[in-house]
Amino acid sequence: MAKRKSSAANPRRKTRSESGRLIVVANRLPVHRVRQGGKSVWKMSPGGLVTALEPILQDTGGAWVGWAGSTGAAPKPFKSDRIDLKPVPLSKQELDSFYAGFSNATLWPLYHDAIRVPVFRRSWWAAYEKVNRRFAEAAAAVYKPGDTVWVHDYQLQLVPGMLRELRPDAKIGFFLHIPFCSEELFARIPRRREILEGMLGADLLGFQTRLSGQNFARTARRFTSATGKDTELHFGDRVCRVSNFPISIDFKRFEGMATSAEVLVKAEQIRQKLGPERRILLGVDRLDYTKGIDVRLRAMEEVLRRAKFTAEDIVFIQVAVPSREDVAEYVEMRSSIEELVGRINGQHSETGRVAIHYLRRNLAQEELFAYYTLAEVMLVTPLRDGMNLVAKEYPACRLKNDGVLLLSEFAGAAEELKQAVTVNPFDIDGVAHSIEEALRMGKAEQKRRMTAMRRYLRAHDVYDWADSFLGALKK
Ligand code: ADP
Ligand code: F6P
Repeated sequence: MAKRKSSAANPRRKTRSESGRLIVVANRLPVHRVRQGGKSVWKMSPGGLVTALEPILQDTGGAWVGWAGSTGAAPKPFKSDRIDLKPVPLSKQELDSFYAGFSNATLWPLYHDAIRVPVFRRSWWAAYEKVNRRFAEAAAAVYKPGDTVWVHDYQLQLVPGMLRELRPDAKIGFFLHIPFCSEELFARIPRRREILEGMLGADLLGFQTRLSGQNFARTARRFTSATGKDTELHFGDRVCRVSNFPISIDFKRFEGMATSAEVLVKAEQIRQKLGPERRILLGVDRLDYTKGIDVRLRAMEEVLRRAKFTAEDIVFIQVAVPSREDVAEYVEMRSSIEELVGRINGQHSETGRVAIHYLRRNLAQEELFAYYTLAEVMLVTPLRDGMNLVAKEYPACRLKNDGVLLLSEFAGAAEELKQAVTVNPFDIDGVAHSIEEALRMGKAEQKRRMTAMRRYLRAHDVYDWADSFLGALKK
């Protein structure tokens, strides 16, 4: 595992381990297996959570409890620098029922405003409970008095309560990376009380937005014995604090990467291939129905139909990384998007001038940064999103303070990035108009907006996020 800056090397870090270690509990471990020189080795996975927490874990000699990514027996616990990695096993059947089932076919659509119909199955719930217990027991086994435990996300909502029973004095925090839906939607879950009580086992509950925190508090007061105000719930003989902590990115790393020689060379190569005079619009997402990839495709179709801009002038690149391909809804959305791309290109492309480029793959970092630096307009149009880090990564790469971010009002990021051009993804005509507005926006206006967003993101990076949460948890 590559060593990153420690808190000592990061003067902005406020939270230090005066005592005890940090134990992170998340569905996935922060490492994955790769082939290197004919051998299989563990490599750090890229991503905000790992970036933010690794330095703290290195400092405290902490531990990370998570699934290693393959089914069957788990690898033996191992150490990477000072971090203890504790793999939790998942069987193939549990992958289907706990991960693809209850986590991604029940909770995921429900929490994203039920934009796909959530499926409820008792066997999925049983697997969710069983796997959550396994994670809680693994965390309890590494816990020592004085440690802080930070549990992450919707796959593990029962863990705080289960761990509280096993280690009553532990300091436990929980952060939900996705939205927490309204009371009315949450009421559909047959075992709703158990989920809420599981979360209430934490001392501090963190959400991406204020609204998600309020939704949780209201729902907890309705379906459990919890009382109190939105930010402080009394449950049994304990207090559970609730607050919003919007997650962010490693702003400085993005800035640095965007100006690196390899990214600039890559960007120039892509520009030459696309046609140096064409203006580039971009979308970068996991292939997920919450992301509104279809929305921006339909809006682009409308822009091309109006013919103020044609495939001669503009090109839209959609990069989509495959995701959760065992869940039926994901398979369906993939074919509908691919059909849409084919239809638009059939109608609007010319030889050598393809209107929509659709890349279904995980991009190497330098290629992703090259696209961010090339795009004049970034389209982020989720129907609902906890945060959306792409919306923060794009401004971080715009060192000349140019480019336009088009951002759905239903992404958590919209609460912070007020200078983006906000769109309602349920209004395709409106999105099409906003795309035209973005393409016409003058340089001075672009600069005004981009400078403000970059200033905000520089001050509110992922280190700041982790510090705020852990700082509040220690209080
Ligand atoms: P989510 O967590 O729902 O996937 P986010 O937008 O918050 O959505 O985070 C997605 C992360 O994945 C970002 O850091 C983004 O750069 C990365 N990513 C998305 N699509 C790709 C891709 N095709 N290739 C490489 N990285 C990608
Ligand atoms: O946004 C929620 C989230 O679980 C992220 O934490 C994760 O990176 C992404 O979705 C992909 O999830 P999965 O682990 O299902 O591939």
